[in-house]
Amino acid sequence: MFRSPQLTSVAQARREAKRKLPRSVYWWTEAGTERRQTVRANREGFREIGLRARVPDSHEPRGLATTVLGRELSMPVITTPAGFIRIAHPDGELGVARAAEAAGTACGIGILASYAIEEITAAASEVWFQLYMIGGREGSAIAIERARRAGCRALIVTVDFAALSGPMDVQRGQPGVPDRVDLATALRYAPEMALRPLWALNFLRAGLELTFPNAPPVEGEAVLTTGQAAAGIMAHPPTWDDIAWVRRQWDGPLVVKGITDVDDARRAVAEGADAISVSNHGGNSLDGSVATIRALPAIADAVGGEIEVLLDGGVRRGSDVVKALALGARAVLVGRPYIWALAAGGEEGVRQILEVYRQGIAGTLTLLGCPSVGDLGPANLRLPPGFGA
Ligand SMILES: Cc1cc2nc3c(=O)[nH]c(=O)nc-3n(C[C@H](O)[C@H](O)[C@H](O)COP(=O)(O)O)c2cc1C
Repeated sequence: MFRSPQLTSVAQARREAKRKLPRSVYWWTEAGTERRQTVRANREGFREIGLRARVPDSHEPRGLATTVLGRELSMPVITTPAGFIRIAHPDGELGVARAAEAAGTACGIGILASYAIEEITAAASEVWFQLYMIGGREGSAIAIERARRAGCRALIVTVDFAALSGPMDVQRGQPGVPDRVDLATALRYAPEMALRPLWALNFLRAGLELTFPNAPPVEGEAVLTTGQAAAGIMAHPPTWDDIAWVRRQWDGPLVVKGITDVDDARRAVAEGADAISVSNHGGNSLDGSVATIRALPAIADAVGGEIEVLLDGGVRRGSDVVKALALGARAVLVGRPYIWALAAGGEEGVRQILEVYRQGIAGTLTLLGCPSVGDLGPANLRLPPGFGA
C-alpha cells in the first residue's frame, strides 16, 4: 500500500513524503520557527563550502567506519531523535531503529516516541534515548531509570528547546500535528485526509495511535496529548544545574544536544558530558541562531580534544557529512531526511536513505583522494574567507 520507488536522494524522499502525507503532517516535517532563517542558514552553510578534488589514491574501498562513544559504527551518520514520527508512518521509531541497526549505526529515540523503549532496544543494539525534562527532575528520574533498564546505550539531553521564540511555521499546512486523535480532530482533518486516503487508511489500521509511552506522568497524570507534551517540555527546560544532576543519575555516555556557543561547549565538558551535538534543533527553535556548520569549527577547536563533537542540522548529502567531518565533527545526526524517507517507504525507506548517505560519503572520499573518514581535514575543503560563526 505504501509502496515507494527506490530512494536515491533526500530530495526524492522529500517529494515522496509531500505526495503521501496530508498537508499539515507534511509541513510539520518541514518544521521551522518564524521566518525559517535558521532552517535556510543550515543548508546555505554547507553550500558555501567547496571541496578539493584530487586524483584517487588507490582502488581500495573507502573506510567509512568510525568509533562514536566507544562503539564502532559502520558510517558516521546517526538518526537523530524526533517526536511524533509515527504520524508519518506506522513503522515509526521502531522502523527507524531497525533500519539503523541494519545499517550498522546508532539511532536517537525521543522521549516522545510512540513505541515503548523496551520494544525499540529489543530491535536495535545502539539506542540513544533523548530526554526532555518532562515532569522536572522527578519525572526525569523515572524516564532515565527506564532507559537504563531497557538497555539504552547513551542518553541525550536536548538543551535548545526551552521556549518558542515565535510561532512554528506550519502555516502552509493548516493546524499542524493534531493534539489528540478523536472525532473532533478527525473531522477537522477530514478534507486533507480525503486527499491522502492511503495515509488515512494506514493511520486508521494502526489504531489511531499517537501516544507517548515513554513520557513520565506529570503530577500523577499520564501525558496524553501533544499539547501536554509540549507544555511538559517547556515547563522544565534543562539548566546547567540540571545537566549536572542528569550526569549523576546516568553513568553511561551522555550527549548534550543543542550547543552552538563555544562557552556552552566548554561548560558541557565541565559538567561531564561525553559528547555534544552542535545543533539548533534543525532551525526549529530560535530563529536567527547560527548555522550549525558555521558554529562547528570554533567549537571543535575548543573542545574536540576533550569530548566527541557531533553535528546536526541541514545534512542532506554524503558530501555534507564529509564537510562536517573535515571541520572536526566525529559523526553527524540527520533528522528530516529520515522522517521523509519513513513517510515515503516506512522502515525500508529509512534503510534506503541511510544507504544514500553511505554511497555519497564513499563517492566523495574517492573524488577527494581520501582513503577514509578518519583522514579528512580542512585541507580537503575550499572554505570561503572568514567562514565561521
Ligand atoms: C519534525 C521534527 C521533530 C523533532 N523532534 C525532536 C525531539 O523530539 N527531540 C529532539 O531532541 N529533537 C527533535 N528535533 C530536532 C532534531 O533532533 C534535529 O536537531 C534536527 O532535525 C536536525 O536537523 P535536520 O532535520 O535538518 O537534519 C525534531 C526535528 C524535527 C524536524
